[in-house]
Amino acid sequence: FKGTCTEGTVINGVQYYSNKVTADGFEPNTTYYYQVKLNGKWQQAHEYKTGDPHNFSFMYVGDPQIGASKGQVPNESAVEQSEDVAARNDAYNWNKTLNSALAQHPEINFLVSPGDQINEPAGNNAEKHLLQEYEYSGYLSATAFRNLPQAVAIGNHDCLTTSYQNHFNVPNPFTAETNSTVAGHGYYYTYGSALFIVINANNYNAADHKALVEKAVKENPNAKWRIVVMHQDIYGSGLDHSDSDGIILRNQLTPIFDANDIDVVLQGHDHTYARTYQLTSDGKQYDDFAEYKVAQHGQDHKVLDNKLKSDSAFKEYYTSQNRCYTIADMKQGTLVNPEGVFYMTSNSATGSKFYNL
Ligand SMILES: [Fe+2]
Repeated sequence: FKGTCTEGTVINGVQYYSNKVTADGFEPNTTYYYQVKLNGKWQQAHEYKTGDPHNFSFMYVGDPQIGASKGQVPNESAVEQSEDVAARNDAYNWNKTLNSALAQHPEINFLVSPGDQINEPAGNNAEKHLLQEYEYSGYLSATAFRNLPQAVAIGNHDCLTTSYQNHFNVPNPFTAETNSTVAGHGYYYTYGSALFIVINANNYNAADHKALVEKAVKENPNAKWRIVVMHQDIYGSGLDHSDSDGIILRNQLTPIFDANDIDVVLQGHDHTYARTYQLTSDGKQYDDFAEYKVAQHGQDHKVLDNKLKSDSAFKEYYTSQNRCYTIADMKQGTLVNPEGVFYMTSNSATGSKFYNL
């Protein structure tokens, strides 16, 4: 297979490169080996086993967010962790989490992470960008990734630089997005009878997500399962996030998921576990707050956050506009084609950061 090498970021005068290769034509239930040539020398070969598209499972994690434990004091230490020590320790825990999960479930075929793989948003700051590279190195250093494919979403910590798209190779990127972030785009893929649609919810313009969902569904009409993966949880239980970006997205996205018969929505962002009954939208139209609906996380988001904090009347009205759900089915356990959409939020896969409920 022939790959591409593109120039990535320049940090402190050092040019970083992004190497990508697309491999196809694999057979199911087959063992393959691959090698990487580094600085003219072939490296040790690694094994990769393809799965069975008719009987597969995947691991779903929440915000690994390598580096988020900065400032914390580890056990028996009086010293607050610096940013690079935090990156090291979180990467250690990440590796341990993946190994432990795979030891218990060796049948797992791939990993789904709904965003915030790393903690440092970096922006245009060179020093912070270097730290972000440490964090990506820590995230990707997990030994499991030698033979565990992964499909990750863009979190709010990933969305402000091009690093996400320099470190991950996604299929079917939705480049038609009109309000995309510099990190990249939403995308979609299938595994057996399941269609996974990965939304870049840092883009608050739901018209883009509607177009992506409709395109993915139209191209895969026979998919038995329709699963959306996105970072910002719209029915989470965390204290910090439910009232700001969750609100902007909630009343916009639910009618789109209903109309396209989405079965499951897998989310992160709140670093706390939550699951819902099977929900639908409340069927009402919400046209207010249009100014925020075309924004991106990190821009008008802060303006909205501050207004919600400082203006209690606005917050009351805003919140009243967003209690938008109807419980379609309260069955639990094993569900067979229920009404409504099942929403789930995962917690911290590394323990790097938790929020109050
Ligand atoms: Fe996060």
